Amino acid sequence: MRANRVAQSMALVMVACSAERGGVAGDGTGQAALEKVVASSFRARGQAGLDRLQQSEMQRICSRAPTGQLPADLQQRLQREALQSVRFPEDGRWLGKWQQGEKIAQSGTGMQYSDAADAPRGGGCYGCHQLSGTEIAYGTIGPSLYRYLERKGAGSDAMQRAWTQIWNAHAYNACSVMPRFGDAGILTPEQIRDVMALLFDPQSPVNR
Ligand code: HEC
Repeated sequence: MRANRVAQSMALVMVACSAERGGVAGDGTGQAALEKVVASSFRARGQAGLDRLQQSEMQRICSRAPTGQLPADLQQRLQREALQSVRFPEDGRWLGKWQQGEKIAQSGTGMQYSDAADAPRGGGCYGCHQLSGTEIAYGTIGPSLYRYLERKGAGSDAMQRAWTQIWNAHAYNACSVMPRFGDAGILTPEQIRDVMALLFDPQSPVNR
């Protein structure tokens, strides 16, 4: 099993190298061979389907621009398309329960091959953001969200902006690294409401 894995990785490295040469030659055969090896190396299991091997146009463009710097017109088009993907709550209810939101923000499970297909997913927000003032373990890839309400207010513009950011962060930053929680179906609209409550409820640990 292990030897098989090693052989597979070796094959990947070799094909990746030839893909690079193919790119230079411009005939695309290396890239096609690489995609074939990658496709045959994975099996769908748990919450990890093979669909994620297919890059969207946005992902392809952003992968080739590692600094996230794009020509202005391209950047604006990607952001416009992301904005159009956002589904706002039909009943106008932005906020759920912050207690649930805190659990979702803490949980990093979901979308992995080891997760049962029907297991609920987490948001892993703490992996990139400070949220509660008492939790000391958090990542700093994203800005601190501590005291969010105080900084943004509870107006419908602030709610709409936060919901959009969580649904599809590419609406504001074409090559954002924040997962597309709504657009990619990572969190349900109800879970997004709970996470929104964590940000906006005055009783939540984010705001106390
Ligand atoms: C992989 C890292 C990552 C994860 C995980 C992540 N974010 Fe973010 N987030 C970012 C980055 C980076 C930004 C800065 C803006 C951008 O590039 O999109 C951001 C920006 C934000 C903003 C806008 C901040 C502002 O000042 O208005 C909000 C709100 C937010 N994230 C909420 C969340 C929530 C809620 C979760 C979990 C459901 C989450 N994020 C998970 C990386 C992440």
